[in-house]
Amino acid sequence: MNNVSKEDNRDPYDSFLMVPGPTVVDSRVRNVMSNNQMGHLSEEFTDDFNKLLVLSKKLFGTDTGSPFVITGSGTIAMEATVLSLLEQNNTGLIVDTGYFAQRFGQMLDCYSIDSNTLSFNFGSHADPDILQTELKKNKYDAVFITHVDTSSTVMNNIYELVKVVKDNNSLAIVDSVCGVGGCELNFDRLGADVVLTTSQKAIGSVPGAGLMMLSQNAIELLENRKSTIPSYYLNLKKWKVHMDNPKTYIATPAIQVMVALKTALEMIMEEGLENRWNRHKNVANAIHAGVESLGLDFVAEENYRAYTVTGFHVPSGKSIHIQSELKSRFNVEVASGFGEMKNNALRVGHMANIGPNEVGRFLTGLETILSEYDDRIKKGTVTDAISQILK
Ligand SMILES: Cc1ncc(COP(=O)(O)O)c(C=O)c1O
Repeated sequence: MNNVSKEDNRDPYDSFLMVPGPTVVDSRVRNVMSNNQMGHLSEEFTDDFNKLLVLSKKLFGTDTGSPFVITGSGTIAMEATVLSLLEQNNTGLIVDTGYFAQRFGQMLDCYSIDSNTLSFNFGSHADPDILQTELKKNKYDAVFITHVDTSSTVMNNIYELVKVVKDNNSLAIVDSVCGVGGCELNFDRLGADVVLTTSQKAIGSVPGAGLMMLSQNAIELLENRKSTIPSYYLNLKKWKVHMDNPKTYIATPAIQVMVALKTALEMIMEEGLENRWNRHKNVANAIHAGVESLGLDFVAEENYRAYTVTGFHVPSGKSIHIQSELKSRFNVEVASGFGEMKNNALRVGHMANIGPNEVGRFLTGLETILSEYDDRIKKGTVTDAISQILK
């Protein structure tokens, strides 16, 4: 099996990158990054940036939302949202389904904004009824929800959760860093105040851009807030001027990153959002069936396993070995389990350009490695398990 990774003479940089973001980037997106430098206020770039904003609205499924795209990563989108929409006398509720939800809590702490955490077991989804009970008991200005928590690999039902938040008159802020582009999300139907994401995950571009969609309610709040936003760069009031007219200068954007993102969004629109969501669901079903066929348990509970990333347990203490064997023998790069699960779980990303070829390579690699520990695992198990799913 050693020669599987040699067969196709891939460039060493063309490994099967299956960590939960960044992910494999299509050559069309990579190629536009090598064009010569444009000026940040040039007609060419500002036209491209305007197109990028229009495409972002299509990606999020909104006619009414206001798009923001700023240089940075998903974390910058999270922090810009916190700083721009919350004031010091506000209180936030963190719906905790994993590490990335907790990051919002840490940000609120940084800026001395009070918060409370509603915790769910690692691997469990956020229960809307429990959220409802909490919101009836205590009033919060903003509630923070993670769509797909990349650490626990849980995909929450954001529609139900946001509805509960809005019925209780709080601001609904959704981190869909590991969702947008791969999992169904329509901003206007969702009714959230902010949905944020980043360029390097299910969108399939390179890292470097944070994307936010703000509702008109969020824009009004931003414009009417009493205190000054305590940041220069993460100040969405300033960035609003630039989004309305990209010829204005706030800070030099990562021009190549923006052009790459625009190209990735064009590719998404060519594929069609519905088709893309269905493709992600299909690939996830195959990964889930393959992992199950090897007798492995999932980190996330049934019916809430994400369509972009899967966490699964491996024999205790073996995860680092399996991870490095996947890389050295099969050229497949996956991530370790999160936190305390580092030694007994792995996470595999399956977003954007990950398709049957990568899924097959990952699962047969995993099967081969596991069969060396466990002779009950027979060659061909995963192929049988996925043959009806990935035809
Ligand atoms: C759900 C979620 N939120 C936020 C982030 C932070 O994004 P970034 O690493 O791009 O700053 C990540 C990163 O993996 C994530 O998975």
